[in-house]
Amino acid sequence: MLIARTVPELAAALPGLPGRGLVPTMGALHEGHLDLVQAARATGPVVASIFVNPLQFGPGEDLNRYPRDEAGDLAALAAAGCALAFLPTVADIYPPGDATTVEVAGPALGWEGERRPGHFRGVATVVTRLFGLTQPRAAWFGEKDWQQLQVIRRMVADLRLPVTIHAVPTRRAPDGLALSSRNRYLSAAQRQIAPALAQTCLRTAAALRGGADLPEVLAQARAALCAQGFEVDYLAAVTPEGLIALPALDGPARLIAAARLGAVRLLDNVAIQ
Ligand code: PAJ
Repeated sequence: MLIARTVPELAAALPGLPGRGLVPTMGALHEGHLDLVQAARATGPVVASIFVNPLQFGPGEDLNRYPRDEAGDLAALAAAGCALAFLPTVADIYPPGDATTVEVAGPALGWEGERRPGHFRGVATVVTRLFGLTQPRAAWFGEKDWQQLQVIRRMVADLRLPVTIHAVPTRRAPDGLALSSRNRYLSAAQRQIAPALAQTCLRTAAALRGGADLPEVLAQARAALCAQGFEVDYLAAVTPEGLIALPALDGPARLIAAARLGAVRLLDNVAIQ
C-alpha cells in the first residue's frame, strides 16, 4: 500500500490509480470503515483518507482527544487491500489564505446540524476538498451517519460534482451497537447499556411497520431509553433524504436517534419502510 502524507506525494501516486474510489475517514478505524474499503475495492483501486477535520468540530467538542491510531489504521487499510492511504496535514487541506467553505442547508439543517452548528459545513468543505485532491470516480459513505450521507448526496447533486456516492450499511457489534470510533469513550458499565439504543430503534421500526401509532411508539421508546439511563437528544421518524420530521407514516421513512450516556453521544438510525 502506498502512503501519501503531502499533496505532492498524492499527486505523484494518482496517475497509477485510474478509476479509483475514495473512502474518507477520520481514522481510529474499525470494521465499519473497512466495510467501506471492501465495497470500494470491488470496483477499482481504493484511496482511503485519514484526516481529523478541525472544521467539523465545535468549540466544546472532542477534537483534541479524538482517538488516533495511525499505525493500527495503516495496517488495517493495507490488510483490507487499500491501494493508497492519504494522511494530509491541516495545512494541506486548509492552506494559508484559505477562504472558501461549502455552506449546506436542506438535509443539514435539523438534528445534528441544529445541535452541532457548523458541523456539516465542516464535513461538506473537507469532503469537497478531498474530492478535489484525490479526484475519485466514486466515494463510499456509511449509513451509520445517515444525515451526513444525505448532506453529501445533496451537495454532490447540487454542485454537479462528478463523483458517484455509494452507501454502505451500518456495521454493528453482535449485541447491535453500531460501531463507532467514539465507542471507546464508553466505560464498561456504559458499554453494557449502549446496545439498548440500537435495540430500541429496531423494535420501534418493527412496531411502526406493523402499523403502530407513531407518536405513541416514539414516546414509549423515549421513555424506555430514559429508564435505562440515556438522555435522548432526538428520536424521530423522518423522510429518508430531506430528514423532514414526519407526524405520521405514509411512505418511505427513516428512524433517527441521538442519545447520550454520560458524556458519550451515540447516534443510530434504521429503515422504517
Ligand atoms: P468517520 O467517523 O471516521 O467515518 C468515516 C466513514 O465511515 C463515514 O462514511 C461513516 O459513516 C462510516 N462509518 C462509521 N461507522 C460505521 C459503521 N459502524 N458502519 C458503516 N460505516 C461506518 O464520518 C466521518 O469520519 C467524517 O465526517 C468524514 C466523512 C471523514 C469527513 O471528515
